[in-house]
Amino acid sequence: EMEPHERAFQERVDAGQKIEPKEWMPEGYRKTLVRQISQHAHSEIVGQLPEGNWISRAPTLERKAILLAKVQDEAGHGLYLYCAAETLGISRDQMYEQLHSGKAKYSSIFNYPTLTWADIGAIGWLVDGAAIMNQVPLQRCSYGPYARAMVRICKEESFHQRQGFDALARMVKGTPAQKAMVQDALNRWWWPSLMMFGPSDDASVHSAQSMAWKIKQNSNDELRQKFVDQTVPQAKYLGLTVPDPDLKWNEEKGGHDFGEPDWEEFFNVIAGNGPCNAERLDARKKAWSDGAWFRDGLTAHAEKAADRRAA
Ligand code: 3HC
Repeated sequence: EMEPHERAFQERVDAGQKIEPKEWMPEGYRKTLVRQISQHAHSEIVGQLPEGNWISRAPTLERKAILLAKVQDEAGHGLYLYCAAETLGISRDQMYEQLHSGKAKYSSIFNYPTLTWADIGAIGWLVDGAAIMNQVPLQRCSYGPYARAMVRICKEESFHQRQGFDALARMVKGTPAQKAMVQDALNRWWWPSLMMFGPSDDASVHSAQSMAWKIKQNSNDELRQKFVDQTVPQAKYLGLTVPDPDLKWNEEKGGHDFGEPDWEEFFNVIAGNGPCNAERLDARKKAWSDGAWFRDGLTAHAEKAADRRAA
């Protein structure tokens, strides 16, 4: 039975009202938003690492400039999201501590290596494609600061996906070796991209409550299905084979049937045992300690300025 406060809150959410930072909210609502928004922010920041690896290796100046712009966008997305999480009472330092200690997650997808230039195209096309699928509904999230951050982020994501697809469309028209490189990238990024949407609905511990609170608009499997149905025709356009022998169009369903992702691999990766988890966390911890002098300088400067004002 709901407390009067909780019932009033749920009625606001059901009426499609936005909940703002200073308004009453159930502790569980706050907690799951801190969890999701901070992990979303960590995903953006860690997500810069696989792509950053190729900024100095891009094949042309144009591709380098595009990749630089995208990686810079991801940093900005991370900052918007850390700010949105801070409105719920957690500090930036606390969130970073949770990431560095392994307490907080970030998207599984960033624990895979970027072995060739085609991987950069596959990340734009598939990873940003999946991120868009997952982020567009979040613009309608019941928590105001998160929904508004998503509106800004979604505007930039379409460029991210377009540039990745465009790079691959160029490569598949190149030499047989270039086309094979693109197929190899699809083979390695297809299933991890499907896993981005989270465990299957029956294994999703947060979905029911997150959907009741209109944090999550669609279930994990629903968005995964939409992603497959949208992406398979694009793979065909590129002349590629999707690495799933169970993939086939199902007329009465009006969508594709497809195979099961390797959930053991998924839970292994999000437990910290993926191909690049250690490397990604080491990079973030190094960036944190390398930046300590700068943070200390900023804080000292701010304190001096505050003392001068107080004097
Ligand atoms: N990677 C890592 N952890 C994942 C995951 C994934 N792909 N999918 C699920 N999980 C975790 C959940 O965080 C949860 O663990 P926790 O309790 O420790 O947080 C557990 O697995 C159970 O999953 P649930 O489905 O019950 O959890 P959610 O209801 O939170 O759903 C989600 C998972 C769909 C990822 C949801 O959290 C979400 O929509 N998050 C915000 C969007 C996001 O993070 N998108 C991917 C980031 S990629 C990106 O944005 C960068 C791009 O711009 C390049």
